[in-house]
Amino acid sequence: MLSRRKRSITGKKVASFTEVNIKPDKARKIIRRYHFLINKQKIICNKLGITADPVPPHLEGPADVEDPQEMEKMLLRVQDKGMSRDSLVRCLHYIANEVSKKGGLKDYQLASRVGQSQSRGGDSSKLLVKWLRELQLPQHDPPLTALEIGSLNCHNCISTCKIFKSVTRIDLNNSNDSRGIIRQDFMKRPLPSSDTDRFDLISCSLVLNFVPTPIERGQMLRRLQQFLKRRSLFFLVLPLPCITNSRYIDHLHLARMLEHLGYVQLRRHESSKLYYALYALQNQSVNNTPTSFRHKKVLRDGPGMNNFCILL
Ligand SMILES: C[S@@+](CC[C@H](N)C(=O)[O-])C[C@H]1O[C@@H](n2cnc3c(N)ncnc32)[C@H](O)[C@@H]1O
Repeated sequence: MLSRRKRSITGKKVASFTEVNIKPDKARKIIRRYHFLINKQKIICNKLGITADPVPPHLEGPADVEDPQEMEKMLLRVQDKGMSRDSLVRCLHYIANEVSKKGGLKDYQLASRVGQSQSRGGDSSKLLVKWLRELQLPQHDPPLTALEIGSLNCHNCISTCKIFKSVTRIDLNNSNDSRGIIRQDFMKRPLPSSDTDRFDLISCSLVLNFVPTPIERGQMLRRLQQFLKRRSLFFLVLPLPCITNSRYIDHLHLARMLEHLGYVQLRRHESSKLYYALYALQNQSVNNTPTSFRHKKVLRDGPGMNNFCILL
């Protein structure tokens, strides 16, 4: 999916990667499919009492040739109590095939990058940096540091603005290793033992919506706090429909949830496609999580609404 240009216009050898464009609709489809498969994989692994990450190699091995239509129907039923162990294992093989053999993960990673291409609104950290300049952050000792989760580019505004002495960039993607981006699952990043390992700002731009389940999104939000110094900043970007067209989240619900987690909103902006917000962490969250943040509750409903949800 990446095309490698072997020579520049002047004839010099280059090894730069040019990204092939894919339409947002197609990107969304790929992402939804990937999340669907990973969700089913987790459910099956739970039922079989094995780890999903990584799935034991003997259960990931090549599948027998399966009828895709039959397998897709079976995937929809993996939650059912009556499904046999054999059928669950067949589904696991099928998923492994779909994810790795047919380029599922590769396509997913490419789709992930679509959001940051210039033609689709570009670098969301431009607005972040504009806000940071408005806030006139005082000179800091030690100098400010930032963590960018879901980083696709080490030359975006957050990295070049010179506000931060260092920007740690992480992403699940393995294709980024050579781009100054560490391949790491934030959920597995070792917890900081002191402020030296914490950050003055965490950017989480279009990442939360990539996390497959509402509970895992909540876990990510909670975990984020452990990586922030006191009074530090959290930059959140979500696709606008996650807030404006979801049955389970609206502006007020999100604002209350973040307030409960100890954040104060400093800035907010909505473009035609994205929701941007900058928060300051005032207090670490309290333990008593209100029921409304622990259980799904339909806040509004209508045709064409989505089910984006975060549960704490
Ligand atoms: C749509 S891209 C967003 C990229 C960029 N931040 C932007 O604003 O355009 C989402 C990225 O989040 C990454 N991601 C999702 N969950 C992650 C996790 N737990 N740890 C690290 N990266 C994660 C994915 O690998 C994907 O590359």
